[in-house]
Amino acid sequence: MQGIRGNNHVQFLQLRTEGEILQVVIEKEKIGEDRFKTYKALTQETSLQVKGHWQENPKAPNGVEILLDDLEVIGASENYPITPKEHGPDFLHNNRHLWLRSRRQLAILKIRSELSFAIREFFRNADYNLIDTPILTGSIGESAGTLFSTEYFDLGQAYLAQTGQLYLESAVFAHSKVYCFGPTFRAEKSKTRRHLTEFWMVEAETAFMSHEESLDFQETFVKSILKTTLERTNTELQILERDPEPLLKLIESPFVRIEYGDAIELLRSKGEDLQFGEDINAEREQILTDHFGTAVFIKNFPREIKAFYMKQNPTDPRTVLSADLIAPDGIGEIIGGSEREESLEKIRERLMEEGLPVSDYEWYLDLRRFGSCPHAGFGMGLERVIAWIAGLPHIRECIPFPRMIYRLSP
Ligand code: 4AD
Ligand code: MG
Repeated sequence: MQGIRGNNHVQFLQLRTEGEILQVVIEKEKIGEDRFKTYKALTQETSLQVKGHWQENPKAPNGVEILLDDLEVIGASENYPITPKEHGPDFLHNNRHLWLRSRRQLAILKIRSELSFAIREFFRNADYNLIDTPILTGSIGESAGTLFSTEYFDLGQAYLAQTGQLYLESAVFAHSKVYCFGPTFRAEKSKTRRHLTEFWMVEAETAFMSHEESLDFQETFVKSILKTTLERTNTELQILERDPEPLLKLIESPFVRIEYGDAIELLRSKGEDLQFGEDINAEREQILTDHFGTAVFIKNFPREIKAFYMKQNPTDPRTVLSADLIAPDGIGEIIGGSEREESLEKIRERLMEEGLPVSDYEWYLDLRRFGSCPHAGFGMGLERVIAWIAGLPHIRECIPFPRMIYRLSP
């Protein structure tokens, strides 16, 4: 039970069942003075079994309630730490194992569940094959700077996967259309509201797909999963006081696509002091989405600031055929993607520039040795999209048990 309140004649008990609140009405006249007194003293989070009769009540949380005949305590609960009064975020995160029972948290994780399902549904309907990629890996996926590593028997270092992409690229030559969806690890030393050290990423890889076609596909994908999830989570959005209308409107019109070089010029024209070659930080990403009033693909970043596997841009060799999708409202980058480099020599060159051990990538280079073809893919961070849908300022409530630089438990 979440709580009980009322007067000397009737008490309203809020019972949580299957994640929803059910009102149980306890009338003194019906059950007698003694039992009424006992039930009135029941404490928050006591686990109960109730017997009674359904009755309609438009004022009850879901239009119906139970008029109580009998009640049995299944599990007692004394001094439950999370009360209806305000608590600070640290306290709540320390009690995350209990905080999950709170109304808003129930709503957020229900949205997560629906979004995850919509993602799988989308790929199944588009004939993509699910490939489960490993979490323990022997090669660095994205960048050496944010790696978790551990001793691995006699084989030296193992790394926690920063991406499933290199494995998806193996599978794309078998299945043509593949995706993976699972936990991903980054030793992010930054304490921001958009970074976790363990987050969930969905990644897709498609054979014979060009960069521009990939952007079309990403846009269709994002709009589709947003729409499906919004449609299925009306109640939760209401609990979170999130009006879905602006988001529904946004997905009705095209997202903006802008070249990295043009984005730099635009930012400079708005007084930002940055040069071609620099990465675009979160504040500047928001300047761009505010300017266009929608989600923005920033295309074709400089080669040096992106990963080794991205295809060099044939029309401007300084850049790669990549794009980040930036969501508005300060959510920031939700997708990173690119067409993949096919030239074995260029990949080898980039690995060496990055100081990565080429011998660990021989298996990946085999993919270019044995019948490569044009292919493109992308990865989307699940928690950032949940924060966008739910209208939350921080992604730490978007995963059941957040892992951050300063948090490993519960
Ligand atoms: O841009 P990223 O690093 O791309 C890749 O890993 C590619 N291998 C994907 C691919 O092409 N298959 O990460 C993809 C997305 C980001 O846009 C962001 O949404 C999310 O993953 N992400 C994080 N989310 C939460 N916490 C972090 N520390 C994140 N790092 C990346
Ligand atoms: Mg990225």
